[in-house]
Amino acid sequence: MLEGLAGVVPPRAVGNNELPAAWETDDAWVRRRTGIGVRHWVAPGVSTGDLALQAAVRALDVAAAAPPDGLDAVTPPPVDAVIVATSTPDRPMPAMAPQLAHRLGLGQVAAWDVAAACSGFVYALATAAGVIGAGIAHRVLVVAAEVYSTLIAPDDRGAGVVFADGAGAVVLRRGEHGEPGSILGFDLGSDGAGHELIEVPGGGALARSAPDRYTPADLHFRMRGRDVFQHAVTRMTLSSQVLLKNVGWSVDDVDRFVAHQANARILSAVADRIPLPAGRQIANIDRVGNTGAASIPLALADAAGNSRLHTGQRVLLTSFGAGLTWGSAALLWPHLAPVPSVHGVGGPVRSA
Ligand code: UT7
Repeated sequence: MLEGLAGVVPPRAVGNNELPAAWETDDAWVRRRTGIGVRHWVAPGVSTGDLALQAAVRALDVAAAAPPDGLDAVTPPPVDAVIVATSTPDRPMPAMAPQLAHRLGLGQVAAWDVAAACSGFVYALATAAGVIGAGIAHRVLVVAAEVYSTLIAPDDRGAGVVFADGAGAVVLRRGEHGEPGSILGFDLGSDGAGHELIEVPGGGALARSAPDRYTPADLHFRMRGRDVFQHAVTRMTLSSQVLLKNVGWSVDDVDRFVAHQANARILSAVADRIPLPAGRQIANIDRVGNTGAASIPLALADAAGNSRLHTGQRVLLTSFGAGLTWGSAALLWPHLAPVPSVHGVGGPVRSA
């Protein structure tokens, strides 16, 4: 059961007219082809862990604000597991979650990372739900954070205009099936045959064992944009349809639909193909760009902060990313009240 939520972006907002001149792009092209007007990039020295910490602190404050009946777990440690979803960890080893737990003062809780690129939040949510369902943890902090701006090659205007930085966090606790906040089902999948469609080729064991085959450019995104676009539309559509069938919802039952904010044209194509009735989709890509794993919790926090999500609404999430990976989740929106946003985006919501 979802009981806390927060989204953060770094303060530096980069409009389309402020993108590097070498990209020879313009506001009209970027808006028309991606739907993005502004994205946020970190200042030098700010890491994924820093954004994750900010989102986590706010989500935990929210969760602690209204302890559910019968639970005293809001006294430290407020959670007994921490999962970080990211494809931009601060370093290859160790995982980010233990350090995040330490920075939060959570003590020696279970902590690990999930690497499923832009599907990472849904994968991490499924992992948390499984851990709670198995009785391994009572309350789990899930944080999705990316600093994608550091992966953009200086000459790559395709990826450059799209990718951005941000973090989102949720707190899950054991709850009753069917109560507001409960997650009713997941659909997860992958196709490793497409692993080269979007990748960062260097920086791993392969490159270290054969350094002559790699160059510094391999530490940046390499994306076949059009192919990725088509896979994103197909996979998010199919995954959404499979999950709707599994949880017994018709398309009309979906009150709110939140897809990974990859590209506004992808979002429209997926909603049309499912097909969803008009007005159900939530999107904030125009103000945040593509923030990978963070994009769904950021969009949720944004929508909750703008009163576009209401208690008990049926919410469908769907995501697609490198791997290839995809995943969807169906949930009933919890009882949350908005509190102020950070840099005009997202903002935590409080258990009310
Ligand atoms: O997060 C999950 C995975 N990621 C995605 O889902 C991203 C999916 N892909 C996309 O969003 C789009 O493919 C991009 C936004 C990355 C690129 O848009 P596109 O419409 O697919 O462009 P394209 O790469 O097919 O290029 C079309 C034209 C080319 O010019 P020519 O060869 O037709 O003359 C490019 O050089 O657009 C040109 N172009 C640009 N022009 C101005 C590509 N990027 C830019 C740019 N500004 N930033």
